[in-house]
Amino acid sequence: MSWNGSLDRLVRVLTPDARVTVITGAGVSAASGVPTFRGPDGLWNRVRVEDLASPEAFARDPRLVWQWYDWRRRAIAACEPNDGHRVLASWARRFSRFTLITQNVDGLHERAGSPDILRLHGSIWDVGCWKGCLAAPHRWRDETVPLPVLPPPCPYCGGPLRPGVVWFGEVLDAEVFEHSLDATDCDVFFTIGTSAIVFPAAGLMEHARRQGAMTVEINPESTSATGRVDLALSQAAEVALPAIEHRLTRER
Ligand code: OAD
Repeated sequence: MSWNGSLDRLVRVLTPDARVTVITGAGVSAASGVPTFRGPDGLWNRVRVEDLASPEAFARDPRLVWQWYDWRRRAIAACEPNDGHRVLASWARRFSRFTLITQNVDGLHERAGSPDILRLHGSIWDVGCWKGCLAAPHRWRDETVPLPVLPPPCPYCGGPLRPGVVWFGEVLDAEVFEHSLDATDCDVFFTIGTSAIVFPAAGLMEHARRQGAMTVEINPESTSATGRVDLALSQAAEVALPAIEHRLTRER
């Protein structure tokens, strides 16, 4: 289908009372300068997941793991949200029933003004006590950049803090996942800027499809989801989302 034909189709279904759910991945932040995980310049080409993003890695060398997260926090702090983030933030106002689910830990959706984000993989700006000491809350925000001591100490017990992200081998926050599953009961489900290979996040699109949602992918590359969605837009998020928004504004 042509680009204009795709936009026509989207404008027909994206009515103000449509239930719209979006899941985003690292590609949405690529134009902001945040590296993605896979692909030629992806983070997982430079470092090994098992050395840096698992509880075992942290138990082995918390300082090394924190050096990597502190480096990413510094890099992300220098980035700004892009037009893709901004359009998604405005969709919380455009649609009365809108849900934004993200796998991103960078906080750029928040900075663009999106409310009530379901953060499946946590946030790089949250920390928690590695030992789970009873005095400490489960997670809290610490946006200090750079962190003065690595690993940073837990203010409650003096043990090491951990980054508030979900590592490989860890389960997702049950409440966040439950709300995400509920949001797959929608009219239009977008999967944007994700390689759609990390589960359970990647399974949400299929859930939405089985419940009758129109499924749409926005990604300049093809992924495992491309052949399964109703509409695949082979475009960058920061280009496609403003184009869709422009059409919606013009038509309504
Ligand atoms: P990936 O790095 O796996 O995939 C990024 C996707 O974004 C690719 O499919 C690219 O084609 C696409 N992309 C690149 N630039 C884009 C742009 N400007 N607009 C739209 N799409 C673009 O990142 P994720 O799918 O987010 O998990 O990775 C999923 C999870 O794997 C991450 O949350 C992280 C990682 O390991 C954990 O750390 C638990």
